[in-house]
Amino acid sequence: MVTDSLDVNDDRGSMPTRRLTADDAGIREAGALLRAGQLVAIPTETVYGLGADAGDPAAVAGIYAAKERPRFNPLIAHLPDLDAARREGVFGAQAAILAEAFWPGPLTLVVPAAEGGRVCDLARAGLPSVALRVPGSALARAVLTAAGCPVAAPSANRSGRVSPTDADHVLGDLDGRIAAVLDGGPCPVGVESTIVACLDGPPALLRPGGVSREAIEAVLGRMLALPHAPEGTAPIAPGLLASHYAPRAAVRVDATEVGPGEAVLLFGARPPDGLDGAATSLNLSPAGDLAEAAAHLFAALRRLDASGAATIAVVPIPDEGLGEAIRDRLARAAAPR
Ligand code: TXA
Ligand code: MG
Repeated sequence: MVTDSLDVNDDRGSMPTRRLTADDAGIREAGALLRAGQLVAIPTETVYGLGADAGDPAAVAGIYAAKERPRFNPLIAHLPDLDAARREGVFGAQAAILAEAFWPGPLTLVVPAAEGGRVCDLARAGLPSVALRVPGSALARAVLTAAGCPVAAPSANRSGRVSPTDADHVLGDLDGRIAAVLDGGPCPVGVESTIVACLDGPPALLRPGGVSREAIEAVLGRMLALPHAPEGTAPIAPGLLASHYAPRAAVRVDATEVGPGEAVLLFGARPPDGLDGAATSLNLSPAGDLAEAAAHLFAALRRLDASGAATIAVVPIPDEGLGEAIRDRLARAAAPR
């Protein structure tokens, strides 16, 4: 279920956004601000998240206002450890196996919401389930421990923009709209978490991300199901708008040749035809390493976009391992807007 149209009064106005340092003082301050209902962008191993106390509907509403997100999509609640997560969600056998195997790390589990859990209705968009994640970043977990509450956090960008993988990206989108950003440097994974639903049926892949499908299937000893939504109903992961992660430039995927004046996103050692006529180019990983490519993806899209080229042509990325998440984000960036 997705609630239509957003009308939140943004009385957080334009405050200067503080840049907190990744030390004890910064962690304490980030925790205190979150506890006080303020918005704080925090680095995780995937992307920077725009955090708010998930139990405070006013704080969660502030996330939507700051992002100018048009609809109340359900958010991921971040916890410092599995014990804290078990207070928010019901872990069946499969969910427990995945949590043990991949937490802390770039995996989000959608499970039935627990009786007495603190994640508010607004953060769950009214769903009976809840999305939970224990991030791999020790800095993020330290902030979550300091906050002492589940922290709802979508990516810390304005709606429809590319996800931020460093503190400057966050400030470029949200300066003056949030209380602080904790500067933890660049995010090592670079694409958002993999989302797996462990509800009634077999575990289903809702979004490819920082843990590969292959790694999850190896642990489960079975294939991940496709998400299924009954005909004519909202998609099961309602945040997954077709057009998303969009730079200003048009994006053209699986390009085997380059048009004059295009910006080019490369991968691996083999250049596409016509590269000489390109306006500019960046290589996600000259060695053809998909993890390295994921880590560079969003920053590279931002830089090519800033070149002013009308089109970003992207060479083919292999559809295996983290390539599935990279291809997913590129397909969304290329979707009609
Ligand atoms: O790596 C990440 O996952 C980052 C960092 C900050 O943790 N967060 C992130 O959040 O990507 P966001 O809001 O951009 O994506 C959350 C996704 C949405 O697609 C939403 O639809 C899905 O999680 N989701 C959340 N709760 C859900 C639920 N109960 N059922 C199905 N999908 C859900
Ligand atoms: Mg996002």
